[in-house]
Amino acid sequence: MTTITLALSKGRIFDETLPLLQAAGIEVLEDPERSRKLIIATSRTNVRVVIVRATDVPTYVEYGGADLGVTGLDTLIEHSASWGATGLYQPLDLQIARCRVSVAVRADFDYATAVRQGSRLKVATKYVNIARDFFAAKGVHVDLIKLYGSMELAPLTGLADAIVDLVSTGNTLKANQLVEVERIMDISSRLVVNQASLKLKQPAIRGLIDRGYLDQVLISHDICYRSRLVRWGGACTGTRKCRVALGRARAVTAVFRR
Ligand code: PRP
Repeated sequence: MTTITLALSKGRIFDETLPLLQAAGIEVLEDPERSRKLIIATSRTNVRVVIVRATDVPTYVEYGGADLGVTGLDTLIEHSASWGATGLYQPLDLQIARCRVSVAVRADFDYATAVRQGSRLKVATKYVNIARDFFAAKGVHVDLIKLYGSMELAPLTGLADAIVDLVSTGNTLKANQLVEVERIMDISSRLVVNQASLKLKQPAIRGLIDRGYLDQVLISHDICYRSRLVRWGGACTGTRKCRVALGRARAVTAVFRR
């Protein structure tokens, strides 16, 4: 029997992937918030879940530690900018864990003037590639400060003028007297597939994922990947075939299959 390993991170992505799995008749047998186990069995004997840090999901899938994974577009963009994405089919948009990457500043910081006058902005973020590309496209000079968490603290302590971070409800910004001044991109989570697994475990993986969906994404991947547009989550301006494929892929919502 071929075992399929699915990499998930704890928190929102795990919580929002569960209903998709349940819809496919797959129950995850333990709650990772309560258990210290890192490999969790499911009600389907050939499907198991590994719990990894969010930023490690693309790495596990790319190098075959997992066959499939669910990861945010933000994480995928940062991963592919740093390492390339050679062993990974991406991205199938699951339309879950939706949020945005935004620029935020202290309420009393005059961002519009700073940007207009060509001041050099100090920007703290863990999304250095997204931030670099965004400000470069605007022609704004930035000094990027890489942080790994609690970015909201940076403008409050004088470490940075601005942050680039995920915003969902906006409550964290509000609680820290920060305001969102620019929305960089919308984020949702993607299903990523290891290329070798797709070949070697084809029937099992196709048995798990809606066949039509996967076919469409493989078409779009092949075309988009060559043009590097796939990095930006399928905002494709490429060939007509590609646009049609992406359009169809978006229309399919049932991803995991009974
Ligand atoms: C993210 C982000 C913000 C928060 C925003 O952190 O870094 O701190 O969510 O959510 P809100 O707009 O609903 O308040 P997350 O909880 O994912 O943890 P992290 O700091 O480890 O990234």
